[in-house]
Amino acid sequence: MTWTRESLQTLIGERLKGIRIIAVSNRAPYLHRDKFGTTECVQPASGMAAALDPVMRACGGVWVAQGTGDADRITSDSKGRLQVPPEWPSYTLRRVFLPERLQAGFYSGLSNGCLWPLCHVAFLRPRFEPEDWNAYCTVNRIFADAVLEEARGEPALVFVQDYHFALLPRMLKERNPDLVIGQFWHIPWPNPEVLRVFPWQKELVEGMLGNDLIGFHMRTHCANFLSTLDQTVEALVDHVAMEARRAGQTVQVRPFPISIDFEAHSKTAASPRVESEAERWWMRIGPGDGPLGISIDRVDYTKGIPERLRAIDSLLRHCPEYRRSLRFVQIGVPSREDVPEYRDLAARVQQMVDEINDRWAMGGWKPIHYFHSQFSQMELMGLHRLADFCVVSSLHDGMNLVAKEFVASRTDGDGVLVLSRFTGAAAELGDAVIFNPFHLNQAREALQTALVMSSEERRRRMRHMRQVVEVNNVYRWAGKLLTTFLRLPQAAAPLELGSPNRVEKEPVARWG
Ligand code: G6P
Repeated sequence: MTWTRESLQTLIGERLKGIRIIAVSNRAPYLHRDKFGTTECVQPASGMAAALDPVMRACGGVWVAQGTGDADRITSDSKGRLQVPPEWPSYTLRRVFLPERLQAGFYSGLSNGCLWPLCHVAFLRPRFEPEDWNAYCTVNRIFADAVLEEARGEPALVFVQDYHFALLPRMLKERNPDLVIGQFWHIPWPNPEVLRVFPWQKELVEGMLGNDLIGFHMRTHCANFLSTLDQTVEALVDHVAMEARRAGQTVQVRPFPISIDFEAHSKTAASPRVESEAERWWMRIGPGDGPLGISIDRVDYTKGIPERLRAIDSLLRHCPEYRRSLRFVQIGVPSREDVPEYRDLAARVQQMVDEINDRWAMGGWKPIHYFHSQFSQMELMGLHRLADFCVVSSLHDGMNLVAKEFVASRTDGDGVLVLSRFTGAAAELGDAVIFNPFHLNQAREALQTALVMSSEERRRRMRHMRQVVEVNNVYRWAGKLLTTFLRLPQAAAPLELGSPNRVEKEPVARWG
C-alpha cells in the first residue's frame, strides 16, 4: 500500500477518533522573528521539524516545542499557544520558553555538546558538566508539565522527538500511566562502548524506558540500543522480539526510516514560483556553461563539509578540464553557534573556501560559491533543479533528508545524487553514487563518476530513486509508527482501542 496524507488521515479518523496526539520536540516547526519592525514566520533548518510538520498537519493535535524566535512571545497567547501553519492553520503549536541559563546547559551543553557527538561517534571529546546535566533534567521536567497540561488528564498519545528529551517519557509515565508514549530518536544510536563514557548513561536509558515504543531510522541503531540496555540496566532484553521488559513495563524498539512528503514536494518543485527561484540562483552565481554541483547542510561537523571541499580541490588538481568550468554552490546554514566546535568549523569552512578559490580562480570564474545563510524551501528547490549533481558527504547521519529532497525536486528526471555510505538514506537510495567521504580519492572519483555519467544512466538512476522516495514517504513513516502504536497491547486499555463502548469524544478544542 502507498501511504498518502489521506490514508494517514483515514487511519487517525477511524482508529484514533477523539484521542489527542501530542508531539514534543526541542526545535519548533515555526518561529517568529522581528525583521526591520515587521514580524516574519520562518521554518528552521531541521530534518526532524521538516518531516514531522506534514504529519501534524494531517493529524491535528498539539506540538509542544521550545519558543526561540525573538517575536515568539508576542505571536502566541499567554500559554504560548497559536495555530500553525500560518497560511493553513491545522494544529496547535505550544511554545515553551526557557530561561537563558537553562537553555545553555540543556541545548548547547548536554544535548549538543555531549549527546550529539557521542551518538554520531564524532571523535570529539564531550564536556561533561554536572550543571548541564541538571539543566537537561530541569528542562525535561518543564516540558513534562506542559505536555500533562495539554493532555488534560484525557487519553493521549504522546510522541517525543529526539535526544533532547530522553528523560521525558519516564517523567510522563510516572505522573500519568495512562499516557501511551513513543519516542523517535532522529540521530544514530552508537554501539554501547561509545556511550559507556557518558556519566549519566543509566539515567538516560531509564528515562527512555518510560516509552511504550522507541523508533530509530535503522535496524542497527535498534540493535545498538538493545545492547546498551543489556549493559546498563536490569531489564529483560529480547533481541529477536526487539523489546525490553522492566518493572512490569514493556518497550518495543523498531526501525522506521523517516522521509519527506514526496508528492507535495514534487508538486511545489515543478511550480512557476520555483522556476523563478532557479533563475535567481543564476543571478546570484553569474552565468556559466560548465557543470554545476550543489550541497546544502547546516554547518555541522557531522556533515563532512571540509572533506567535500577537499574532494573538489583534488578534482580540480587532477582533472584540468574542470578548471574555469565547474561551479559548486555550498549552502552552509548557520547552526548551534554557541557551541565552540560549531564556531570553529564555520571559520574553517570559510577559510577553506577562500583558499580553494584563491588557488583556482581565473578570469571571472571561481569554483566555489559559498552562502553562509539560511534559505527558504522554495529557494532550495530552485537550486536543486539547476544542479547537475548534489553531494551529501555526511561522516555519520541518521537519515539525511537533503538527499531525498533533491530527488523529489527533480521532476525533470535528471541530476545525480552523490551520497555518503554513512547516511541512513544510502540504505534506500542505492542508485546514488555511493562513496566513503573519509577517503579522498574515493570522494574525488565519486564526483568524476557523477560528472561523466551519460544522460541515459542519470535518468535511469533518478527514475528509480524517485520511485523509492515516492513509496517510502513521510506518511508511510508516520503510518507505520501509528499502526505499531495501535498494536501495542499496553495501548489498548488507555486508548480504549477496540472497545465497542468507546464513545466519540468532543472534537479537540482549538486555541486562537
Ligand atoms: C537534527 C536533529 C533535530 C534538530 C536538527 C537541527 O536533525 O535530529 O532534532 O532540530 O538537527 O538542529 P537544531 O539544534 O538547530 O534544532
